[in-house]
Amino acid sequence: MKLNKIVTGMLLVSSVLTITSLASNDMTKWIMPKTAPSPANNKTTKKRVELGKLLYFDARLSKSGQVSCATCHDPKKGWSDGRAKAVGVFGRVGPRNSPTILNSAFQKHQFWDGRAKSLEEQELGPMQTHVEMDMKLDDIVKIVKSKKAYVKMFKKAYPNEPLNIKTIVKAIAAFERTVISQPSPFDLYVAGNKNAISANATMGFSLFIGKAHCVDCHDGFNFTDGSFQNVGLGDDDIGRQKLKMKRKAWSHAFKTPTLRDVEKSAPYFHDGSVQTLQEAVAICGNGGRYPKKYGTSDAIKNRNLTTKDIEQITEFLKSLSGPDLPIVAPTVFPN
Ligand code: HEC
Ligand code: HEC
Repeated sequence: MKLNKIVTGMLLVSSVLTITSLASNDMTKWIMPKTAPSPANNKTTKKRVELGKLLYFDARLSKSGQVSCATCHDPKKGWSDGRAKAVGVFGRVGPRNSPTILNSAFQKHQFWDGRAKSLEEQELGPMQTHVEMDMKLDDIVKIVKSKKAYVKMFKKAYPNEPLNIKTIVKAIAAFERTVISQPSPFDLYVAGNKNAISANATMGFSLFIGKAHCVDCHDGFNFTDGSFQNVGLGDDDIGRQKLKMKRKAWSHAFKTPTLRDVEKSAPYFHDGSVQTLQEAVAICGNGGRYPKKYGTSDAIKNRNLTTKDIEQITEFLKSLSGPDLPIVAPTVFPN
C-alpha cells in the first residue's frame, strides 16, 4: 500500500472511532436547563430578583462603603474579578481566588471547599469576613431598613416575612438563581448543529470525554459532578480537609468548578495561580503541577496529552462560552 493510502486509511479509522465514541456518549446530559431550581421557602419571583440585584450591587452594605458582591463577582469579568486572590474592604487581600457565581444555583455545595450548603447560607460568609465586606449582620439589616425604598420593596417581595438578615440573603440568592449561562456554540452543537463548533473543538470534545478523562469530574450540563478533588497544585491550602481533619481523601481537595464561560474568568484554580486555559488543561490532564508534594486524587493521572491535544481541548473549552447575560449594573440605589 502506498503511504498516502495508509494515511487515508488511518484517518478513516480514527474518524470512525471519534464518531462511535461520540455516538455512545449520552448527549442529553449536556443540555443546559433554562432556569435554575429554587427552594420551597424562596421561590424565584420577579420582585425578589429585582430586589436581590440591587442588594448584590450595593456597596453601602460593606464596612468601607465601597465593596459589593459585584466587586469580586463582576458580570463583566465572567462573574469573577480577574484577580488571583480576592480583594475586599480597605484593600485587604483574601486567601483564595474568587470563583464565578455563574450557574452556582445548580451546585450542591458552595465555596471552593463546599462549606456552605445553599446560596442563602453562603452569603453570610462574605458579609462578615474581615477581608471581604467586614460587617456585622445587624448593621447590614440596619442599613437596609434605613432606606424607605428598600423597605417597600421587601414588603412586596416577601409580604409574609419580616425584613431581616434572612430575607436579605434570600433576595440576593433569588437574583443569583437567574445568573445562568447563555446558549454557547457547544449548546448549538448538542442541539444537532454539527458545524456550530470548529473541527479542532470537536476533536477537543472527544478528547475531553475520552483519552483525557476530563469527564471523570467535569461531567453533566454544568461540567462538574460536584466532587472534591486534589489536582496536585502543591500549595499549602488543605482545602476541604479543614472541615473534617480525619478525612484523608479531603486533603488538598477543592470543588470541581464549572467550565461554562470558563474563558472569561481567568486566572484559574482556588489559588488563582494559573493564567491560561492551556496551563489549566495540562495540570488537570497530565497528572498535576507538583503532585509529589501533597499527592493527587486517583482520577488525576498523566494522560500523556500532547501540545496538540491541549490546544484542541482548549478550543473545546472556548466553545462553552455563551454571550454575557444582559445584566446592567444599577447606578442608582434605593434610599
Ligand atoms: C472580597 C471579594 C468577595 C466579595 C465582596 C464577595 N465574594 Fe463571593 N467569593 C469570594 C471568594 C474568594 C470566594 C471563595 C472563597 C472560598 O471558597 O473559601 C467566594 C465564593 C462565593 C460563592 C461560591 C461559588 C462557588 O462556586 O462555590 C458565591 C455563590 C458567592 N461567593 C457569592 C457572593 C455574594 C452573593 C456576595 C455578596 C453578599 C459575595 N460573594 C461577596 C470573594 C468575594
Ligand atoms: C479528578 C477530577 C478532575 C479531572 C479528571 C479534571 N479536572 Fe479540571 N478541575 C478539577 C478540580 C477539583 C479543579 C479545581 C482545583 C483547585 O482549584 O484546586 C479543576 C479545575 C479546572 C480548571 C480551572 C477552572 C477554574 O475556574 O478555575 C479547568 C480549565 C479544568 N479543570 C479543566 C479540565 C480539563 C480540560 C480536564 C481534562 C484534561 C480536567 N479539568 C480534568 C477536577 C478535575
